[in-house]
Amino acid sequence: MNSDSDLQIAGDILEVPHLLQAPREHPATVAEFAGLAREIAADRSQWVHLVRYDATTRWYHRLRTGPGYEVWLLSWVPGQGSGLHDHGPSSGVLTVLDGTLTERTARGTRALRAGAQRVFAPGYAHDVLNDTLEPAVSLHIYYPGLTRMPMHSQQCSAAVPRDAEAGAAPAV
Ligand SMILES: [Fe+2]
Repeated sequence: MNSDSDLQIAGDILEVPHLLQAPREHPATVAEFAGLAREIAADRSQWVHLVRYDATTRWYHRLRTGPGYEVWLLSWVPGQGSGLHDHGPSSGVLTVLDGTLTERTARGTRALRAGAQRVFAPGYAHDVLNDTLEPAVSLHIYYPGLTRMPMHSQQCSAAVPRDAEAGAAPAV
């Protein structure tokens, strides 16, 4: 019994199948996208064998796609960063799988340790980097899939886009 509510189910719940929705195959809400990221994070067998560390560039791999969304796996060796950017019309969920990343925005700096999640709306600008001495791995879900990743001037805290890339590879 739920002590926070007077609502109780009377009778046999199995007799009301028309009220029971089948689980969705694909996420459709912010909570479901964040949940998908947590599920993938918790099941290392889905991604750990795919991770590569590349000292010359941030490595990325498209882990899966679904209706309107993409899931990317990224690795970051110490010192690698995205630069200040936004995600065009895409919203996203960033989840740290291993290591620690630092996120810088016009509002401040935060450390994102393994398990941390950031949900962002279209137009949100940030600079993400690995400023630790250990490699890091992160998971990124974009909805819709990332098609633009305008880079911003690092000098300007107001984060004015300085260019726009079509078909951008994921920065974060
Ligand atoms: Fe990003």
